Amino acid sequence: MFTIIVAENYEEVSHEASKLMRETLRSKENPVLGLAAGSTPLGLYEEMITDYILGNTSYRKVRTWNLDEYLGVPENDPHSRRSFMNEHLFEKIDIFRENTHIPRGDASDPEEECRRYEEELQKTVIDLQILGIGRDGHIGFNEPGTPFDALTHVTTLTEETRNDNARYFDGNPLLVPEKAITMGPASIMRARNIVIIATGEAKADAVYKMIKGPQKESCPASILQDHSHVTVITDPAAAARI
Ligand code: GLP
Repeated sequence: MFTIIVAENYEEVSHEASKLMRETLRSKENPVLGLAAGSTPLGLYEEMITDYILGNTSYRKVRTWNLDEYLGVPENDPHSRRSFMNEHLFEKIDIFRENTHIPRGDASDPEEECRRYEEELQKTVIDLQILGIGRDGHIGFNEPGTPFDALTHVTTLTEETRNDNARYFDGNPLLVPEKAITMGPASIMRARNIVIIATGEAKADAVYKMIKGPQKESCPASILQDHSHVTVITDPAAAARI
């Protein structure tokens, strides 16, 4: 069940997402947010920061869970998802760092880290999960073919994903890690509410397959067809096929 919002441009897309974020933050005493790295949610994060600066929102009671982290990348590495989230959100609001959860990409035993993360995650329920979407319909780092029932796991990144993420590694795909830890589709589906944001014509095919394509593991985002509270926020380019 999808609610679809087609906004005029990226700024309006981010504003629509921030309205749903504010609703969640005001309706819950101790909100739990699922967050995504990547460029798409940055406009939303900027609105969240503005709300804090203006004194409209405090994040002191908020806990967050990020979708994924590159494997083999220490937390303090500028290329890590931890560094990305610190820079683009956590350092600019009054959230307690210990309430922000991201898989440890430098864990000595990645499989154990997946079990630990999933176990901790299952002690709570995410009130609002923010998602972007890859051109191939991936969510988090769940690449095409990921079983829908997968929980937090180690994944091998496709060449396309590594190319798309090269912008975070000095433009060199060879520097993008080959593997990552990611919440699985089943981990994501536990969220009470999901907002998936997509902009640009490169995402139009993935958005179409997510909403109107057959539900199959070759398009990980198509699992969302089974979730009862998914809001898709796009611009006209990403909505071109729906
Ligand atoms: C990355 C991330 C996803 C993200 C997607 C799109 O691989 N693992 O969480 O949603 O690609 O990224 P962007 O929003 O930069 O287009």
